[in-house]
Amino acid sequence: MRRCLAVCLIGLLMIGLTGEALAAEPLKTAAELFAANPHPDVPLSSDPYMDATLWLVNKENALPYDYVPELRTVDVRLKPGLSAQQLRPEAASAVERLFADAEAAGYQLAAVSGYRSYITQKGIHARKVAQKGKATAELSSAPPGKSEHQLGLAIDISCASINYRLNAIFGDTDEGKWLYEHCWEYGFIIRYKPEWQKITGYKSEPWHIRYIGKEHARLVTQLNVPYETYMEYLSLCWKNRDRAMTGAIR
Ligand code: DAL
Ligand code: ZN
Repeated sequence: MRRCLAVCLIGLLMIGLTGEALAAEPLKTAAELFAANPHPDVPLSSDPYMDATLWLVNKENALPYDYVPELRTVDVRLKPGLSAQQLRPEAASAVERLFADAEAAGYQLAAVSGYRSYITQKGIHARKVAQKGKATAELSSAPPGKSEHQLGLAIDISCASINYRLNAIFGDTDEGKWLYEHCWEYGFIIRYKPEWQKITGYKSEPWHIRYIGKEHARLVTQLNVPYETYMEYLSLCWKNRDRAMTGAIR
């Protein structure tokens, strides 16, 4: 009887501990990140919100309808039948290196969608709204002007084993896992993780990567925070740079 009680108690204790360990950690706020490290080791020579490589584009921050970045065609494997895709030159070079290294490691990625103009996004968004209704459509499709694809810094990637679909199951494929693990090394981040939906406004998109440059991508990945939070954090670091420096000298 005593032994039975002890086994039960240990069992309950283990369930409790595991439950705690599995409970999602609360997302860190920008203020918490700043308090922990006001001097991140990343390039910060201007207001981050003004830096064209770091621009935050989301449901609250839109691009003008006539914004078109400098673009070049990306030399990577495409989804069969797809016409040439374009990105900003720095993102194009980075994604070419990413595809080459993935290939060398045994993973065949395929590009599905790179730069999209305001007009193209308008068409995609209108089609999704007609199919699913506005609220559902906007959990996966950005309204025109509010898509990172218009920046020329985002690209959607899939693979043959899931017939090149842009679907959550891409995250379970070997190619999707490789991308998740390694994209930061090339300056990209996974922009929409499931646990960030409340902040990003979008469901999980393991196929959508956003270029922000190597140093920032390394830090975003290390901190594991949504890009919205990261930009708010960088902005705090930028605004407080003089005060923080004076503090450091004293
Ligand atoms: N699917 C992403 C959110 C876009 O439409 O840009
Ligand atoms: Zn995308």
